[in-house]
Amino acid sequence: MKKQFFISLVIFLAVFAYAVIRYNVLKGTPWIDLPLFVSNKAISLSAVIFIALSYALGSLARFWPETILSVLTFRKFFGLLGFGLAAFHAAVSLLIFTPSYYPKFFLGGEKLNLTGELSLFFGVLAFFVFTLVAISSIPAVARAMERERWLAIQRFGYLGLVLVFFHVFVMGFEGWLRPAGWPGGLLPISLIAAVVIALALLLKIAATIFSKKRIG
Ligand code: HEM
Repeated sequence: MKKQFFISLVIFLAVFAYAVIRYNVLKGTPWIDLPLFVSNKAISLSAVIFIALSYALGSLARFWPETILSVLTFRKFFGLLGFGLAAFHAAVSLLIFTPSYYPKFFLGGEKLNLTGELSLFFGVLAFFVFTLVAISSIPAVARAMERERWLAIQRFGYLGLVLVFFHVFVMGFEGWLRPAGWPGGLLPISLIAAVVIALALLLKIAATIFSKKRIG
């Protein structure tokens, strides 16, 4: 438990520092926006990293069973931590979801534009999917299910990752194409999240095609 906790803390602090440097230091976002607005960026990216890591460990174990087997038990910890952070992100986002914080999601008044509608649609769907996966991870629920059905629900998490990809793609795509506008040349957080998700999905595809052995 200590090891997982330490790894998670290092990842979270690195992501948090990145968000603070990109927004508060380089972009000039006011420091009063640190507790919710900027922290929310670090929380959402950490959620993606932990959930993707949880799935990636399963894929990696199919290539290097001996090496990965010892850390395979981390999967549940990372998955649930990621889900907890995603829940926190959803709550914080909804708390400050106003045109003054997120002008790019609004038409000009209080009404959402298409970017806002689509992005939130994918975010809410993704959260719903991860909730199902998290519920199936509760030991009593897992015990009551057939192994194959349980695995099918766990694999449902890949759909959640695809939905998060669309969640960040819709909101970030335009900015991804304008590197000149990136503060200090630092990649947008939405783009990093998309790349992390794409890597986890590619790893899963590679593991399915090139390795037949399922572990755990
Ligand atoms: C009810 C569900 C959700 C709502 C209402 C929601 C809301 C939002 C909002 C408003 C933003 C824009 C934040 C910003 O630009 O500062 C955002 C960005 C983001 N969301 Fe969500 N989200 C939800 C679910 C999720 C889930 C389940 C994940 C991942 C596990 C996720 C990951 C992200 C990421 C990585 C960003 C990019 C942050 C950035 O570019 O700064 N979201 N979300």
